[in-house]
Amino acid sequence: MNIDDIKTIAVIGAGDMGHGIAEVALIAGYKVFLRDINQEFVDKGIGRINASLEKLVSKGKVPAEHFEKIKSELMVPCTDLEEAVKEADLVIEAIPELMDLKKETFKIMDAAAPAHTIFASNTSTMKITEIASATNRPEKILGLHYFNPAVIMKLVEVIKGEKTTEETIQIGYDFVVKNSKVPVKVHKDVPGFIVNRVQAPSGVLLGCILDKKIAEPEAVDAIFRNMGSPMGPFETMDYTGLDISYHGSAYFAEAIHEDFRAGETLTAKFEANELGKKTGKGLFDWSAGRPAIDVSKATDKLDPMDLVAVNANEATKIIAEGACALEDVDTAIMNATGTPFGPMALIKGIEPADLAQRLEGLAEKFGKEIFKPTQMIKDGEYK
Ligand SMILES: NC(=O)c1ccc[n+]([C@@H]2O[C@H](COP(=O)([O-])OP(=O)(O)OC[C@H]3O[C@@H](n4cnc5c(N)ncnc54)[C@H](O)[C@@H]3O)[C@@H](O)[C@H]2O)c1
Repeated sequence: MNIDDIKTIAVIGAGDMGHGIAEVALIAGYKVFLRDINQEFVDKGIGRINASLEKLVSKGKVPAEHFEKIKSELMVPCTDLEEAVKEADLVIEAIPELMDLKKETFKIMDAAAPAHTIFASNTSTMKITEIASATNRPEKILGLHYFNPAVIMKLVEVIKGEKTTEETIQIGYDFVVKNSKVPVKVHKDVPGFIVNRVQAPSGVLLGCILDKKIAEPEAVDAIFRNMGSPMGPFETMDYTGLDISYHGSAYFAEAIHEDFRAGETLTAKFEANELGKKTGKGLFDWSAGRPAIDVSKATDKLDPMDLVAVNANEATKIIAEGACALEDVDTAIMNATGTPFGPMALIKGIEPADLAQRLEGLAEKFGKEIFKPTQMIKDGEYK
C-alpha cells in the first residue's frame, strides 16, 4: 500500500481539532467523513469548516469552485461510527483525551473498517502502542499529532507505536505532505512526543521564577516583547489556558519526573479558577482585552538563554532514546510555534563546558534534577 491508495478519510470527533483536521484534508481534495456523537456537534463542526473556508475563498487561498465541490461532494457529515469508517482508507481520531474512550472507539472501528484501513490518533499524551492494543491491526496504527489551529499550524508529528510498520509511517508522512503540512517522524511514542516534551522544562523554569518571586510575569514578558516576539511566555500561558499548563505538568510529573509538577503559583491560579483569557483573569487581567505589557519593565533577573538551555537539554534526552533525529527538533519546534529558530540552533555557538555549567547552576539554584546536563550536552554532541 502507498499514499496513492489513500482516497477517502474519516475524521472521528468534530471538535476543535477534528474540524480543523477535516478542513485541511478537504482543501487537499480528499473525501472526508466527519463523525461526532450527535447531529448538533457534527453541524457545529461543519459550520466552523464552512466559515473558515469562506474566509480562505475570499482571500483567494481556496478556489470558489473547490469550496463548492467540498460542500456538494467531498464533505460527508455523519453520526454513525461504523458508517463513517466503512469506506475509509485512513481514519484520524480526534475525540477527548480519555484512554478508555479511545480504546473502545478503536475497537469498534477495527471491526467495521476494511482490512487495509490505517488508523491514526491525534492524541497529545497517550501511548500509540496502548491505543493500538485495542485492535487486531497494531501495525496499521500511528499517531498524527496536529497543532491547534490545525488549519494554520504547519507541523504534524508522525508517531510510531511499538508495532507500527514502516509502510504505515511512510503513508502517514506522505499524507501530511499532501495536506501541505510539515511532517516530522517520531520513532517512539515517548511522553509529549517532540514539541510538548522539549518545551516542558522552560515551563518548569518559568514556574520557579514566579514561585521564588524573582520576577513578575510582566517583567519576563517584556524581555520577549523587546526581542520582537508578538507574545511573551506568560501571556501565552494565559492565552491557551492555565488549566492546560496545569494538566500538562501533572501528566509529565507522572510520566517522566516529579520535577515537572506545577509549582505554587500555577496551582493556586488553577484552584482559584483564574485560568487566563477564558476566565478574564489569570497571570494577567484580561477583562479589558489583551494585557498591556510595559516593555520598560523588562527584568535582568532572567537570561532568556536559560529557557533555551533547559529545553535543548530535554531534547537531547529524547534524541538519546532514539525518538527523533537532532535536526528534527528545530523543524518540529519552528513549525509548531512559528518561531524563527529552534533550541538546537540557538545552543550551537555555546561551548559544551559553558552550557553544562549553566545547566548545573540552574539545577542547583532551583533544586530541579531535570535541568542537569545530559551526557550529550557535556560531550558537545549538539554541535
Ligand atoms: N486542543 C488542542 O490544542 C489539541 C492539540 C493537539 C491534539 N489534541 C488532541 O486532540 C483530541 C481532541 O481534542 P479537541 O481539543 O479537539 O477536543 P474537543 O473537546 O474540542 O473535541 C472532541 C469532540 O469529540 C467528540 N466525541 C466524543 N466522543 C466521540 C466519539 N466516540 N466519536 C466521535 N466523536 C466523539 C465530542 O463530542 C467533541 O465534539 C484529544 O486527543 C486532544 O488531546 C488537542
